[in-house]
Amino acid sequence: MAKNKEDGIHALNKDFEKFEGVKKEQAYHLVENKDHDQFDEDFEVKTCDMREFFTGGEEGRIVFAQNLGQALEEIGFAVLSGHGVDTNLYNQAEAKVAELFATTTLEERMKFRAERQGSVNQGYFPIKETTIIHPDLVEGWVFCRRAFDMDGNENFKANDYWPEGEYEPLFREVVKTHEQLILPIMQSVLRYLKCDPHLYDEKLAATNFGFRLNYYPAISQQDNDSGAGRMLGHEDVDLFTLLPAQSVDGLQVYNRANNKWIRLNPEPGTIILNIGDYMQRITNDRLPSTTHRVSKPQQKNMLGKPRITIPMAIYVWEEEILEVLPGLTPVKYEPISAIKFHTGITSKYYGEDYAVNK
Ligand SMILES: [Fe+2]
Repeated sequence: MAKNKEDGIHALNKDFEKFEGVKKEQAYHLVENKDHDQFDEDFEVKTCDMREFFTGGEEGRIVFAQNLGQALEEIGFAVLSGHGVDTNLYNQAEAKVAELFATTTLEERMKFRAERQGSVNQGYFPIKETTIIHPDLVEGWVFCRRAFDMDGNENFKANDYWPEGEYEPLFREVVKTHEQLILPIMQSVLRYLKCDPHLYDEKLAATNFGFRLNYYPAISQQDNDSGAGRMLGHEDVDLFTLLPAQSVDGLQVYNRANNKWIRLNPEPGTIILNIGDYMQRITNDRLPSTTHRVSKPQQKNMLGKPRITIPMAIYVWEEEILEVLPGLTPVKYEPISAIKFHTGITSKYYGEDYAVNK
């Protein structure tokens, strides 16, 4: 295992294998490694049009489920179009993230330093400290459901979570809009796997999520020379993640079929959907939790530009049990509580005392 974060620049995922909660045979460097990595220029992550689900009636839902399920089973990633989210909302959100990081001091941000609450480490992560295993060139901020005024809680105070309460409403609009996509995606996945499409409807009504603001500042010469990446290679721990397409390139997806990396830069306005560990676990490895990372932009003139992303990780609440879906046999995994599963895996990023064993 890497002894300190600088070692993490050269680390392999296999150094951290003992933390995994699902089978992962892939072996890769956490950051782009010019000597070892190969790139897959041919593979195209499929685009799935959600209008088929929303307006195509029963037949449309069947077609969408098939398209989405095939894409996810093959590579664990899909691009969603026709999802109905206004691109302007994403543009406003990106501008608001830039404003948040430009107008607050580090000292102000550190008052919200991330702490585990339930399964998720929530709050602010300073640059190079998003994990203990690699000096990621990103600052991040994770907001879970409780950080939004969504459930009519009269004691809700935006200032408990946000450096200024005025930030909350716009990002609330983003998460509420994305919330509308959760059941269509989950129902389609379940339909594809020949399960009752509504099996997770109740679990996912007002479910928990981790909405993350990632601010990757312009890359200094020193950081360019250090060999660090913008975000280490990882698999998401959730059911699935919704990531509005970003304007600065760098996202790479690992193709297990040929051990090459795919550079994924879909059209602005689309949403990248990817599978996480919860989903791989309940689908008995049918849908893979696929490795991805953020590298420096390919074009040198983009190094001086910040990169901003707003992924939303969809979870079940911590007391839920993750159990292999009916009919997927032979069953490879024991039922496990979401909190034990989640914190056991993420203790690789935050230290072994992060794990909750219940
Ligand atoms: Fe991720």
